Amino acid sequence: MIIETENAASTTTRQGAQYGVSAEAIQYHYDIGNEFLALAQEGGRNYSCAMYQDGDTHEQAQIRKLDYHIDQIRARGAERVLDIGCGWGALVNRLAIEADVDKVVGLTLSKEQLKFIGDTYQHPGIDVHLQNWQDYQPEEPFDGIISLGAFEHFAKIDEDKVEAYRHYFKKCHEFLKPGGRMSLQTMGYGDVPRDRQHSDLFIAREVFPESDLPYLADIVRASEMLFEVELVRNDRKDYVKTMRSWFENLRANREEALKLAPLDVVTRYERMYRTMSYSFDLGAFTLYRITFRRIEQTRIGDGYHAG
Ligand SMILES: C[S@@+](CC[C@H](N)C(=O)[O-])C[C@H]1O[C@@H](n2cnc3c(N)ncnc32)[C@H](O)[C@@H]1O
Repeated sequence: MIIETENAASTTTRQGAQYGVSAEAIQYHYDIGNEFLALAQEGGRNYSCAMYQDGDTHEQAQIRKLDYHIDQIRARGAERVLDIGCGWGALVNRLAIEADVDKVVGLTLSKEQLKFIGDTYQHPGIDVHLQNWQDYQPEEPFDGIISLGAFEHFAKIDEDKVEAYRHYFKKCHEFLKPGGRMSLQTMGYGDVPRDRQHSDLFIAREVFPESDLPYLADIVRASEMLFEVELVRNDRKDYVKTMRSWFENLRANREEALKLAPLDVVTRYERMYRTMSYSFDLGAFTLYRITFRRIEQTRIGDGYHAG
């Protein structure tokens, strides 16, 4: 079921959302045209880093990534799973079909993604809302949460990042059943000194307005006393391959791309994929896959200060 929540897609009427990207900024990047971005993506329309093993095609590596996160939160056969920032629906579909989850809920701020999912996946166990996670109030808690490639949008460049991320972790704590797990995949800053992180504003200005990358320390700080960190992986080399794959696909389809978007837009996307692959290769950018487990108040006792 596709649910367009009232006011969700407008910044001026942003309901309770306090932090991070506006719906307009998301639409600037993702609603450039389903057909245009599809030229870079593989068939499943995944738009976050794949997980490669030797010999994998990009498509296989994308499926491996989905299954990795499904297994990290023990989603197989679960009742309810939430996908925060569900993109074009590859994960919600896999959760419902392959992992046998009874109810899968996806959240996105992109109207085109919502439409694509509605047109592509008709499974009764899938609900997708055009809604900011900050405004979302589930009817029942979830067994697990997965969020892939969306956390980069949850704090603006000039916001107090730890505060913004803490808001996210508090909401996820509320969304989960006791002991529930969350698997988070996000780009991060690597060997970039904190006072130099904004020296190249190409990405913040032109590609992902109102977004910025987290430092690992800030993510972990923000999750303190709410979540236990079970596992952290830095798979930045996977993003070198993923970015190259998107770049090569777009290049191979350049003629088609130019029919769908003006030259400066095509060039901007090519430049983004190429520049970012170098940044991941050098270690300036990282790719974190972090497994969290909800901490219960009973385990923390009187010292619980989640505020
Ligand atoms: C890079 S895409 C990743 C999509 C998908 N997870 C994937 O791996 O293909 C980022 C997604 O996060 C969503 N998003 C960003 N900020 C959001 C917010 N505050 N609430 C809900 N969705 C958000 C966007 O609408 C988009 O679907």
